[in-house]
Amino acid sequence: MSDRCRLSHRARQATDQPISYLMGETIARPELISLAAGFVDPETLPIDVVAEATAEIFADRELAQAALQYGTTPGELELREAILARHLAADAMTAGEAAIDVEQLVLTAGSNQLLHLIGETLIDPGDIVICASPCYFVYVGTLQGLGARVLGVAADEQGLIPAALEESLQRLQASGELSRVKAIYVASYYDNPTGATIPASRRQEILELAQRFRTDGVIHVIDDVAYRELGYYGDDEPSFRSFDDAGETVIHVGSFSKSFSPGLRIGWAILPPPLVEPIGNQKGNMDFGSPRLNQRIMATVFRRGLYDAHVAKIRASYRVKLEATLAAMETHFGSLAEVDWIRARGGLYTWVTLPEAIDTGSSGPLFARALDEGVLYVPGVHCYPQEGAPIRTNTLRLSFGVQSPETIEQGVAALARAVAEVLAEGAIAP
Ligand SMILES: Cc1ncc(COP(=O)(O)O)c(C=O)c1O
Repeated sequence: MSDRCRLSHRARQATDQPISYLMGETIARPELISLAAGFVDPETLPIDVVAEATAEIFADRELAQAALQYGTTPGELELREAILARHLAADAMTAGEAAIDVEQLVLTAGSNQLLHLIGETLIDPGDIVICASPCYFVYVGTLQGLGARVLGVAADEQGLIPAALEESLQRLQASGELSRVKAIYVASYYDNPTGATIPASRRQEILELAQRFRTDGVIHVIDDVAYRELGYYGDDEPSFRSFDDAGETVIHVGSFSKSFSPGLRIGWAILPPPLVEPIGNQKGNMDFGSPRLNQRIMATVFRRGLYDAHVAKIRASYRVKLEATLAAMETHFGSLAEVDWIRARGGLYTWVTLPEAIDTGSSGPLFARALDEGVLYVPGVHCYPQEGAPIRTNTLRLSFGVQSPETIEQGVAALARAVAEVLAEGAIAP
């Protein structure tokens, strides 16, 4: 079949994302408590805020005409300016200190499009991207689809471990492959899948390593800040970009999907100046501008001062869910030796490690037992790059965005029953 279609090499390399199956199961089996798909909470989506902004646009014929017309390839200037101002405030820097011009900002239809464009722009088949192991699996798939070798480096509850990164870079240097390393990818705030946040000191170390090991060209640090706004305790870390004095190493990628609405699907990046044109060219070839109406709505939300209040609201709501998750883990797994989980302080996920012998994979005994008990999770195995740090088959990701505190407690209890059954039956990997 594929042969008859004469698919491109790239299309043949691409595989379906395992998350598609899990999202499908979530929708097809509403009786299950899904702690799998990373959907945002439908109850806190900004319906009234978007209605207000949209009403403003459509109350004015000229504004409406502009919003319904094609826009520019990099996107609406007003929104790019608002994003830059917010970024600078978060890092407590002036535009001068950060040395960022609004021309370095680009808007896309979701940050996945941007991550893809970065891959298209930087990666030739055989090039290497280093990431934490585990890592945001959708991007691992995207990079592999582009022919990249994705190399996982050990991570802990503070994200990618600099010493492990240094070791990997040294190994690549020794084998003569260092020049193939194009980027280090990190989701540095409340990571997907682990919930880990990289502290400032580690950020500096990782950035220094990227700069120290560069050969004839830059090793970019792609800092995916999709979850930065979802910190629930008022703490934040300075972004990688704030340490990049020359501004040529870090590609800072953000999204409004988690903090506002994935339906609007607006992603953005602050690019190093030499990448502005090449990424713009790729985007020009792809869509010469992402949906303008959505960008006009978002710009209006900022101008009317509605964004902050919305973010404050969802932080309060998700904090309750995060605490319900951690409390339920403590209740149901606290006394089990060899079970551990990351105490995230934001985001939508926690990462669980079970006793070594339990295979959490979708064809293993735990997944089936968990379905019988009525709960769905993401098997950890899907989140590991194939190369580098070893894949740990006894791990899983729990997402708490959609469920209520009550169903979170029920879901974790169901998972604990499934684990107990698997342990009792000895139905574990040899
Ligand atoms: C770490 C991370 N980056 C990027 C994205 C993509 O978000 P979007 O394309 O909706 O902006 C996601 C979505 O789940 C994510 O978890």
